[in-house]
Amino acid sequence: MGTLAGKNLLLGITGGIAAYKCGELIRRLKDEGADVRVVMTPAAQAFVQPMTFQALSGNPVHTQLLDPHAEAGMGHIELARWADKVLVAPVTASFMARLAAGDASDLLSTLCLATSAPISLAPAMNQQMWRAAATQRNLRQLEQSGYHILGPASGDQACGDNGPGRMLEPAELLALLGGEPSGELAGKQVLITAGPTLEAIDPVRYISNFSSGKMGFALAATCARAGASVTLVSGPVSLATPRGVNRIDVQSCQQMHDAVIGQKDIDIFIATAAVADYRPAARSAEKIKKSTDSLTIELVRNPDILADMSARSPRPGLVVGFAAESSDLAAQARAKLETKKLDLVVANLVNQPGGVFGSDENQVLLLDRVSQTELPRIEKRVLAEKLVQEIAKRL
Ligand code: PMT
Repeated sequence: MGTLAGKNLLLGITGGIAAYKCGELIRRLKDEGADVRVVMTPAAQAFVQPMTFQALSGNPVHTQLLDPHAEAGMGHIELARWADKVLVAPVTASFMARLAAGDASDLLSTLCLATSAPISLAPAMNQQMWRAAATQRNLRQLEQSGYHILGPASGDQACGDNGPGRMLEPAELLALLGGEPSGELAGKQVLITAGPTLEAIDPVRYISNFSSGKMGFALAATCARAGASVTLVSGPVSLATPRGVNRIDVQSCQQMHDAVIGQKDIDIFIATAAVADYRPAARSAEKIKKSTDSLTIELVRNPDILADMSARSPRPGLVVGFAAESSDLAAQARAKLETKKLDLVVANLVNQPGGVFGSDENQVLLLDRVSQTELPRIEKRVLAEKLVQEIAKRL
């Protein structure tokens, strides 16, 4: 029996082809000792008959918001209170839009608003629908509202496309559900750097890079959901602070260095920030005038935040660095592992197809002293979950 033993689990099913996988999901949830009640939207019933899930869950399936017969048994508010956890799988683009808007026009969306239980969503849809601006906007809204997004996975789709949008397999959903809310990082202090740094040349110009902060913010959100107490030191980015994360905004490498080194009792330090290795030797107080044909700006070395944290005493229990390379990925990353004395390096090629800086996806190589693992190109949110699992294993 796992952490779901004795829990009341409300499984919401919306109208996608992946609904057929819910039979196995219910069976596995029951094997874990959960009491499962199923709620189906009208579209879900076009894919699978409620009778199937009634037989597998051993409970009546709920389908209607305003059904006097059902309300006389377990009414919708009672059902919302009954649930210890809610999992909606699969979640369509349409259901995401309704939830993001707070629309309570059917039983399942009403329950999601009425319950105080944690809600996990397992999206499943065509890859183009998943990538659509509206879906991504709704996704960000749902994450900020505290919904726990599981997946989707990337791969072959029922419609013949290939890309992100496959519902996670029942076993993966179960593993992720079982891990929360107690969390793999419960009680841990995590410090993360994210985004670019900005090194001023004069009052109007600066040296920086294309980092958006997406990778670091995804890691911060995932660590917080895994139970850690998270401090995120971020360069200038236009991202909302993940729920439950303590954010410190900085601009330059020196400011990021000071903010990081000042933190005490850190169990895990993760450096995702793209930090400028050099800064102008002097910041001009006046705007530099274009009076000459060429201009030379002298640059001086910045402190290495990651190396300094790794050398600090007491050292964080685990120090994780990133390596952004344009060639010889494994060799360069291994050199960083050794020179900066890291426990784990997440190495990415900046010139991979689709890019890394600013992209929602990334393909990385994980290296530690004894192993090397190549991951496929996946969404940064999903990668963050995998990285947290890797980190938890090494604690
Ligand atoms: O922000 P996104 O748009 O989501 O993009 C993600 C990312 C590309 C920024 C991220 O995946 C990434 O690769 N981050 C590290 C970028 C980098 O600066 O790599 P590096 O190989 O130059 O540095 C190696 C490590 O040392 C990094 O962990 C870096 O944070 C750290 N470092 C570097 C220089 C310095 N002065 N201080 C540091 O702490």
